[in-house]
Amino acid sequence: MTSRPEPTGPGSPPTSLSDGVRVGALRGWEGPARADRGGAESGGEQRGGGGAARRSPMTEGSKAAMEPSARPAKRSSGTAEAPAEPGESPKRGRWAPPTLPTEPSLYDGPFPFYRRPAEEGRFSLDAQRRYHPDARQLRYFAPPPAEHPDPAFDLRHGYRDRYVRRDESRREGLEHLLQWVAGNRDRLRAQGDAAGRPVNADFVTWRGHLTKVLTTPYESQEGWLLAVSLFRGTLYVSEVETAAARQQREQRSDMLQELAYMGYKFERYMCADTPDGSPDPTGVVNTNEAFCTVVRTRLGSHSLLFAGEVDCTDPRGAWPEAPACYVELKTCKELHSPAQRKSFYRHKLIKWWAQSFLPGVSRIVAGFRAPDGSVAALETFETMKIFQLIRGDRGCWKPAVCMNFCEAFLAFLKRVVTEDDPQLVHLFAWEPGSPVSYTRHRDAEHVFLPAWYVETISRGKRPD
Ligand code: A3P
Ligand code: MG
Repeated sequence: MTSRPEPTGPGSPPTSLSDGVRVGALRGWEGPARADRGGAESGGEQRGGGGAARRSPMTEGSKAAMEPSARPAKRSSGTAEAPAEPGESPKRGRWAPPTLPTEPSLYDGPFPFYRRPAEEGRFSLDAQRRYHPDARQLRYFAPPPAEHPDPAFDLRHGYRDRYVRRDESRREGLEHLLQWVAGNRDRLRAQGDAAGRPVNADFVTWRGHLTKVLTTPYESQEGWLLAVSLFRGTLYVSEVETAAARQQREQRSDMLQELAYMGYKFERYMCADTPDGSPDPTGVVNTNEAFCTVVRTRLGSHSLLFAGEVDCTDPRGAWPEAPACYVELKTCKELHSPAQRKSFYRHKLIKWWAQSFLPGVSRIVAGFRAPDGSVAALETFETMKIFQLIRGDRGCWKPAVCMNFCEAFLAFLKRVVTEDDPQLVHLFAWEPGSPVSYTRHRDAEHVFLPAWYVETISRGKRPD
């Protein structure tokens, strides 16, 4: 199951991803450094590619981040304890909890070290949303033949009568990922950790949460709330739905629901159930079903273990190893002018890039929708080449800013959340135009690590 990419020397460009991209210049995808398989996850690993000596604006960003600020931390629902500076007692009236600024200019430096993600495992969720520790839901990329570039897709087909929607009001948190961690805990522990942690990673989370962090410096619409607990040396990060997101979800118009359906339907047209099969677009679209990859990587000094849903694999593609073999499928309104394309690059491609870059998914295949629900064109974006598309546009987002901000955010979490207690939750809140702030909570309403997980990891018991 575990499939690690071939180690490459520090600073070398990746071999299993994009050829011909000067990734070394970006300092992304640097190969696993010396102690990749040993006790490397304890935080002492050196950066490859000269990262250690560089003077990064991150340092300034981080410094600024930790300056006491007069801005009070935002309150969420429930009662919050007074935030405490690690190792200090808050002095009434003189100390304010630190915040983290998000302005892109603070993070505009060289690309940080990001180790090429390695797949640690896989799991599936079936039509009833039941967890299975295997790849039964993995689908296979099966695009229409190249001689028919104008695919006869009807993305609206089945919306009224062949659509089983996942119950989005059921907040799953980290549940399925924790099931995977618990089921693999012997291996995770055995992989070695100088700190003796039962789960040898600094952070455990969903890829989607990290995607939101990456795009934060450029996001102007939607804020986020991330709950964080430190348990046995590992920080767990789980999203909490904001009031605005809940309202949007509950009041989603039929048109928006149909648009969401069209994204899933596109997957049905582009994927087969078996490696040599053909797509069967007549079936039911059931959004309970999911295949997830669990990857391990490192951003700067932070080791990360996260899971992300994957649309399909292309075993015949240029990169047959997971996670590079995975293909992300996306839909987008048809683009008619250079101005529309520029706007697409600025506002949509950033999310597509962040989502796929994080887990090492090498390709994004987009279907451009016409008003009648057909797909007017297919276009492939190689994840590692996306930066080439945007670098001529001065007002556009920068991959390095996204990654440097993420690195600073993870450092911020480590600095703030120092009490190892699964019952203590720090809630990090961000709204466009503000810095990231936090509150502390001990009430049951906020606790997100389930009792079964805490017990399993604490006592070494197997989950039921
Ligand atoms: P598109 O992204 O093509 O619109 P993903 O691309 O992440 O695999 O998600 C598959 C589809 O789920 C999306 O296809 C979209 O239709 C729907 N979807 C994902 N996130 C959504 C959200 N936050 N709100 C509404 N629909 C969403
Ligand atoms: Mg997709």
